[in-house]
Amino acid sequence: MLTNKSARKANRQPILRFGIAGLGGAAASMLPSIARHPGVKITAGADLREEAREKFRGEFQAEVYEKVEDLCKSRNIDAVYIATPHEFHAAHVMMAADYRKHVIVEKPMALTIEDCERMNAAAERNGIRLLVGHTHSFDPPILKIREIVRGGELGRLGMIHTWNFTNFLYRPRRPEELDTNLGGGVIFNQVPHQIDIVRWIGGGLVRSVRSTTGIWDPTRPTEGSHATYLEFLDGAAATVVYSGYDHFDTDEFHFWIGESGEPKEPGHGRTRKALRNVTDPHEEARLRASSGYGGSRQRRAILSAEQRERHHPHFGITIVSCERGDMRPSPDGVLIYDNEGKRQIPVTLGRVAPDKGRVIDEFYDAVVNDGPLYHDGRWGEATLEVCLAILRSAREKREVSLSHQVANRD
Ligand SMILES: NC(=O)c1ccc[n+]([C@@H]2O[C@H](COP(=O)([O-])OP(=O)(O)OC[C@H]3O[C@@H](n4cnc5c(N)ncnc54)[C@H](O)[C@@H]3O)[C@@H](O)[C@H]2O)c1
Repeated sequence: MLTNKSARKANRQPILRFGIAGLGGAAASMLPSIARHPGVKITAGADLREEAREKFRGEFQAEVYEKVEDLCKSRNIDAVYIATPHEFHAAHVMMAADYRKHVIVEKPMALTIEDCERMNAAAERNGIRLLVGHTHSFDPPILKIREIVRGGELGRLGMIHTWNFTNFLYRPRRPEELDTNLGGGVIFNQVPHQIDIVRWIGGGLVRSVRSTTGIWDPTRPTEGSHATYLEFLDGAAATVVYSGYDHFDTDEFHFWIGESGEPKEPGHGRTRKALRNVTDPHEEARLRASSGYGGSRQRRAILSAEQRERHHPHFGITIVSCERGDMRPSPDGVLIYDNEGKRQIPVTLGRVAPDKGRVIDEFYDAVVNDGPLYHDGRWGEATLEVCLAILRSAREKREVSLSHQVANRD
């Protein structure tokens, strides 16, 4: 890394050199935010797929590797963004930490609390910064809502409701993504976003969880839905609901703006229909891979940093109730409904679409300026604890108390 001292001498911002591990869908959607950060240079990438490595080498004039370990060994990176499938997160984070590389790991942090503990121990032992994200708790309107709650202008927080209805289960999947034991289903894949949102706004300390989960399609035998009630230590409550069965779409309640902030055509049931003719799991896995970086189906919206119409990303509908008013993210800011009526607080758009820039900002500041890391490994572990408690509460049909929660330190 061009250090603070040498950068100051040269009158330049310190440069953090990034390696990308796993060049799939998550990386494709994060790359614009990494590449556009003024203090970051992308210098290496690793993936099992040759087409992804070749495209990456051409686009970034970067080193490419098949194995994540070879990437972690490189002397030309300071930090690694790990976006391999979740079952590899623990091993890849520990590998990067042991080579003294700072890490951003995609959600979910891991599949067990024991793995999270080992990842946190590796980060602490090696003195590296570990951030768990991207999750939608970084969306600028969610950050603004948290700021208003903390500021106390609407009184004490009472309730948070976050509901999301999508087509998640019918997007092409690898077989393991339809097996809960291997990290499949919405609880490991989508619910971490929801839990991070409610923990971020509610202060972090969840006391207990009661949940019912749904496995409604025998051809896709993993959780596709849940209805969960959370209570925070200070008495605030949250309901968290998800359905990935491609029937109702909550974007209908969000002015038909999609998850990444893009205008969206209504299409209830379209994804399920498109998958009807795909009966072979290998063909489905091939389709899945082709939507990753360098694949033939990589989304044009992700490739284009200059969309004509841009709004904030979001994750379904979130309504936050304080004693003297309610709030919700809107496409361009935060809507407030209080004793005076309804008003919007505008929130500035990020550098690129899809906007995941706040993740890089928090990480860069932590690594380069020794700033605070809010979404650190302990935070990620606490979010995973809630997700695991959802599965357990549904299985055992009872309320589950938590013991790994940490407070939001913002
Ligand atoms: N934050 C978000 O909004 C978001 C969105 C999508 C995915 N994700 C997360 O990102 C992770 C990856 O998901 P995805 O949708 O990009 O999956 P994906 O299948 O599209 O991409 C994974 C990539 O990793 C590569 N890979 C697999 N095993 C590897 C290994 N051992 N070494 C090197 N490369 C390997 C694959 O070839 C593939 O290109 C998951 O944990 C997922 O939860 C996060």
